[in-house]
Amino acid sequence: MRLGIFGTGYAGLVTSVGLAQLGHTVTAIDKNPDIIARLSDGVPTIHEPGLKELLTSNLDAGRLSFTTKAADAMGESQIVFVCVGTPPRADGRADLSQVEEVACTIAPMLDGYKLIVEKSTVPARTAYWIDSTIRRLAGPEREFDIASNPEFLREGTAVRDFLHPDRIVIGADSGRARSLLLDLYQSSFSCPIIVTSVTTAELIKQAANAFLATKISFINMVSDVCEKLDVDVAAVAKGIGLDPRIGGDFLRAGLGFGGSCLPKDVSALIKVAEHSGVDVGMLKEVERINTARIDRLLAKIERALWVLPNKVIGVLGVAFKSDTDDIRGAPSLGVIPRLHSMGARLHVYDPAAVRNFERLYPPNDRLTYVASVYDAAREADALVILTDWDEFRSLDFGRIRDAMHTPIVVDGRNLFEPPLMQAAGFEYYSLGRGDATLHQKPFRERV
Ligand SMILES: NC(=O)c1ccc[n+]([C@@H]2O[C@H](COP(=O)([O-])OP(=O)(O)OC[C@H]3O[C@@H](n4cnc5c(N)ncnc54)[C@H](O)[C@@H]3O)[C@@H](O)[C@H]2O)c1
Repeated sequence: MRLGIFGTGYAGLVTSVGLAQLGHTVTAIDKNPDIIARLSDGVPTIHEPGLKELLTSNLDAGRLSFTTKAADAMGESQIVFVCVGTPPRADGRADLSQVEEVACTIAPMLDGYKLIVEKSTVPARTAYWIDSTIRRLAGPEREFDIASNPEFLREGTAVRDFLHPDRIVIGADSGRARSLLLDLYQSSFSCPIIVTSVTTAELIKQAANAFLATKISFINMVSDVCEKLDVDVAAVAKGIGLDPRIGGDFLRAGLGFGGSCLPKDVSALIKVAEHSGVDVGMLKEVERINTARIDRLLAKIERALWVLPNKVIGVLGVAFKSDTDDIRGAPSLGVIPRLHSMGARLHVYDPAAVRNFERLYPPNDRLTYVASVYDAAREADALVILTDWDEFRSLDFGRIRDAMHTPIVVDGRNLFEPPLMQAAGFEYYSLGRGDATLHQKPFRERV
């Protein structure tokens, strides 16, 4: 099929490359000319494992092209996917201005039937607004449908997730839209395909993300109890996660959920529900628990280091999770500015995301970006781990300990076993497992 994609960010680029890989002819448009120039040269604009290979091979095969001209993406395309951003507004609602802009761009170009598909995560009933915007501008006689086909890929494993989905959701209110999307996917994927109304599909995506966020906040709440009782939250998570009704994924205690999706989708669902008069206090609690993770980590850092001004802290990780350069909604955005304002001297390292972080926080006399974990450890009073990069799991701990001024590690991702870190000579603090320094104290002093 010939397909057009609006937006080549994290979701749109992987969708474009993935659909081209499935054999379709894809024209992807972005309004940012720098992005289009780089992608046309085969240079990925985001860090995503496996992306570069598929980008270059599909460009070379002539199945994939990039443009800044909407007309090129509309042209012969039978289906046009909307993959533009839906960031949060200050009041928590989804900002749908990029989606509206695409609707306004598409309207005058409609010439013959087109299926316009929301892949962006949008609040329920957004399709209604796209439909009426296009009809207002293009006239009621234009032939088109709006469908919803939410994207469930995860940054860091996005290419694999796109090519091996666990389910595909098709929200379509007309037979024509349904068959086009079924034709697109049925020949390539054997996973369950769920066909629903458009509004149902919109809600499925928001509800899925709200549930994942709820699981994370749940285990983080349990983690706080574990800490008080000197129980390892990982063992509790394993014990409950093996129950198939619960499932083990998203039960890792730590700094909570971040990124460009979960936080905004939870708050957008809260707003949709409130607008409909539904009490969603539970989701507000999920948000509150998540925000409190940052305070909890900062309290541990202060407890470990006592006085912060001029203490040297090596910060490991600014990306919101491993294998991505995305820092949107990352815990680092909450932790690093606060440590800086408390007077600490910060040496920050991340394998992929420093450039994005540096744009928001340029280096200064107390904030430097370094080239390795070992540089971050040099003369440090403590190391603070904020991202679960694999690189951090297999370090030369002897070298790190010897480089540090005082061998203290505050681990927001629970990457290591406390006894092993103690044996390696570190004072080790993590979340939900009782702290290294506390292990020597009798139980009753801790509760
Ligand atoms: N990032 C993810 O992992 C992920 C996963 C699933 C779903 N989603 C959803 O997909 C959507 C996009 O997310 P993202 O992370 O890719 O956002 P993004 O900000 O990385 O990318 C959006 C892109 O759209 C472009 N754009 C904006 N307006 C445009 C227009 N009028 N015409 C052409 N291009 C335009 C921007 O220049 C940008 O490159 C969001 O709704 C998000 O919730 C994201």
